Amino acid sequence: MNAVTAIDRPVKLDRLRGFVTAFADLLAATRDEGAILQSGAALLTRLIAKDDWLPDAFARPNPDRYQQYLLHCDSRERFSVVSFVWGPGQSTPIHDHKVWGLVGVLRGVEKIERFRRLPTGGLVNEGEEYLYEGEVDAVSPRIGDIHRVTNGRADAPSVSIHVYGANIGAVERATYALDGAPKSFISGYANSVIPNLWDRSKSL
Ligand SMILES: [Fe+2]
Repeated sequence: MNAVTAIDRPVKLDRLRGFVTAFADLLAATRDEGAILQSGAALLTRLIAKDDWLPDAFARPNPDRYQQYLLHCDSRERFSVVSFVWGPGQSTPIHDHKVWGLVGVLRGVEKIERFRRLPTGGLVNEGEEYLYEGEVDAVSPRIGDIHRVTNGRADAPSVSIHVYGANIGAVERATYALDGAPKSFISGYANSVIPNLWDRSKSL
């Protein structure tokens, strides 16, 4: 991807700008995780209620693996906003986040399998559920942090918008084998350019 193809069609980037501004306001008002997840879920629900703002370059699947595109990172790295794009049949490994996170489905459907880690190190599968367009889920070390996400559509990509309480691509996290054995990873991002939310000279 390059800067020329970053925006393929006119989209309403002001919607994303309003979201990140409101989220920064929320984090300035409280550091309580429960309050952040509750109010943040309402903001994310509003953002994903309309599918007219995500540039195509950040919704593009890769045939080899799911994609994690950075859309915005707070200047103090208090939060980041990411689009996840799964091609048909693609799945994450079982993984954790280490920080709070919100997941909202913009397009398609996602299967979420939740896991709990026993003090002995083993993993317990706590069940699965489907998250549909417009729905929001939350994770954190406090409420449950280990899951595996799979595209719930067999014939088309699914896209979700995630918000995390850190610059998530730089956080040292872990993937887990089915027996609970952890493996450290830092995800990074698939993109080298991000959407320009700040050009107010025209309606974006
Ligand atoms: Fe996740």
